[in-house]
Amino acid sequence: MFISFEGTEGSGKSTALDLLCAELGNRGGSVLRTREPGGSGLGKSLRALLLDARHEVAPEAELFLYLADRAQHVRQVIRPALAQGRLVLSDRYADSTIVYQGYGRGLPVDRLFELNQMAVGGLWPDLTLLFDLDPAVGLARARARNAELGQEVSEGRFEAETLAFHQRVREGYLAWAGRFPERFRLINAGCSPEAVYAQVESTVQAVVFKQ
Ligand code: TYD
Repeated sequence: MFISFEGTEGSGKSTALDLLCAELGNRGGSVLRTREPGGSGLGKSLRALLLDARHEVAPEAELFLYLADRAQHVRQVIRPALAQGRLVLSDRYADSTIVYQGYGRGLPVDRLFELNQMAVGGLWPDLTLLFDLDPAVGLARARARNAELGQEVSEGRFEAETLAFHQRVREGYLAWAGRFPERFRLINAGCSPEAVYAQVESTVQAVVFKQ
């Protein structure tokens, strides 16, 4: 089974993923936690290029770098893990491109869907958790985290974007999720980390363990 985690900056999906991996690990299942960009060897180099705010990058160039990252990730990491029967949890996947490069940067969403289809060979998650949060709150969290880690420039491309950009991303996620209601589940990320995790846990229970 394949689950992706999506949402705007600072929405707490990585914290929820930490907790979920720990819990699933305790239950003895084989879990692969991965992320985009940067889930493969090639992807690690692409991630450094993609997120470094010092590089100027045209929207189309950015798009194809994300697609390259994803194509390699699917072939080298995700498909082999699924073939071994592992549970794959990915921090971002193809919906991020549709939302950030499409709704955010203004590239045509339906073309992005087709290009993603080619990059992933038709592999879409069984379940996608969408962490929804007011971008003003999320950005403040993400900027504080980057400043603490000294990543303002090296990983700060999107944190440096305007609030209007992040609002388009949030609305874009909601609109896109509305097109695939059977795959997406909305997580209200505006509450405490414990309350966010409780929603994640019950959603995953219901879908993965069918309880
Ligand atoms: P990351 O440091 O992983 O942050 P986050 O905790 O927000 O996931 O940053 C990934 C950034 O890359 C994020 O701002 C969204 C952006 N992105 C795209 O624009 N398109 C994509 O296809 C992907 C996978 C990510």
